[in-house]
Amino acid sequence: MTINAAQVGFGAAVLAGVVLAIIGHPGPKDLLPPAASAAPSTPTFALKSVSVELPTSDVTFPGGAAADAINANCLSCHSAGMVLTQPSFARATWAAEVDKMIHAFKAPIDQANAAAIVDYLTATKGAK
Ligand code: HEC
Repeated sequence: MTINAAQVGFGAAVLAGVVLAIIGHPGPKDLLPPAASAAPSTPTFALKSVSVELPTSDVTFPGGAAADAINANCLSCHSAGMVLTQPSFARATWAAEVDKMIHAFKAPIDQANAAAIVDYLTATKGAK
């Protein structure tokens, strides 16, 4: 099937109609700046403080000293759960994951810590 210019024109017109139907025609009131007299002289609203309870996570990686490097370097952007709920992977996959955190997401982790973290992940969540 080939599409000729008339069909393309018709399609464009239908599309424009649909878009206009959705967003509505800009009426004159939308184009004019709000009248100065419309602004109330006293504010009709009051600002209130609200307290918002944000979820926190105090879960760290288990394993004592072996987990020191991962606890010190991997919890600044996401939770330990984010890592611990991943499937088990082979060492090379964990090494690539840590590499991705460092290079794609700019995690400031030096090589010695990166190696310790890969060791920890392989020991804790290594593919059997
Ligand atoms: C600079 C911030 C940052 C640091 C530090 C960081 N990550 Fe991430 N991590 C991310 C971001 C961003 C994602 C992707 C989140 C998403 O997709 O919603 C992610 C996702 C993950 C995932 C889920 C799988 C994936 O690839 O999306 C794992 C596992 C993970 N990180 C492990 C680690 C480990 C291990 C460390 C420590 C070596 C670490 N992260 C440190 C930013 C960081």
